[in-house]
Amino acid sequence: MKVLNLYCGIGGNRKLWKDCDVVAVEFDPGIATVYKQFYPNDAVVIGDAHQYLLDHYMNFDFIWASPPCQSHSQIRYNIGFLANRKYKKVKAVYPDMKLYQEIILLDKFFKGKWVVENTIPYYEPLIKATKTGGHLWWSNFPISEINHGNRGHRDGTVETLQERKMLDISKFNIKNKRQVLRNCVEPEVGLHVYNEMLKSLNKKERVYEMKIKTISISAKCSDLCFATAQDKDGNQVGDEHDGYVPDFMPDEHYGDYVMLDIDIDTGKILNWKKPTEAQLRKTFHNKKDE
Ligand SMILES: C[S@@+](CC[C@H](N)C(=O)[O-])C[C@H]1O[C@@H](n2cnc3c(N)ncnc32)[C@H](O)[C@@H]1O
Repeated sequence: MKVLNLYCGIGGNRKLWKDCDVVAVEFDPGIATVYKQFYPNDAVVIGDAHQYLLDHYMNFDFIWASPPCQSHSQIRYNIGFLANRKYKKVKAVYPDMKLYQEIILLDKFFKGKWVVENTIPYYEPLIKATKTGGHLWWSNFPISEINHGNRGHRDGTVETLQERKMLDISKFNIKNKRQVLRNCVEPEVGLHVYNEMLKSLNKKERVYEMKIKTISISAKCSDLCFATAQDKDGNQVGDEHDGYVPDFMPDEHYGDYVMLDIDIDTGKILNWKKPTEAQLRKTFHNKKDE
């Protein structure tokens, strides 16, 4: 399963996911480096997750987005703005509408499964969402109730939060470690949502995804097969071949099929047999050399 993990932070949500190819996007290079150490097999993109979503959403099976929550947060509004005198007042800010842009884009354009996670806001959410696990979730699959226990955010130290989030960042030299840890979704919550997504795929989809190793392609091309051969420097060797499927192509192609068995993980052609000299000469025979 190809997964896009947007606004990945250090990957609390991703900690307990298994059997997936993940591309993670984070714009803070220090945080992205920590993520890469925790999940070396994931591809990590340092850049803007909002733009990445727009450019690449179509290449994934499942998309998780955790856009920044500060401008939607109850704490910022209730404590920071409504002014308990003990705290410094904060200025009014526009709630960041990228949150809703992403939800609408995913809902209307994306064919796969998706979830957007955010804080419970200080206003009535503009789009209906599920509230559980201390977050608000917009998704195209049902998310059942989960009790995440005490998040330990209010009094948590870096040490207690590391334990709670199951991520030890003591050896990394990054700023605001406590905040970075508070930003993490609890791994068990990330797994719960991931499992809910898997549950929502119908059985047929799951069987395909889990079992397919090779795809056999048989494409009819009649006398429209065009081929060239190059040397190690990329210079063309011999003539262009324009006609029936060359003799050296795999299987019983009868001159007008391309028949390839392709490994879905590596893209390698499995039924390839190295052509003989004679077959190559016949296909790319250079009339000038006669
Ligand atoms: C709430 S945290 C994500 C937590 C993560 N889902 C987890 O469970 O650990 C949001 C992250 O998004 C990053 N971020 C904020 N704006 C971003 C943007 N435009 N593009 C990419 N990353 C961004 C922040 O640096 C932060 O690490």
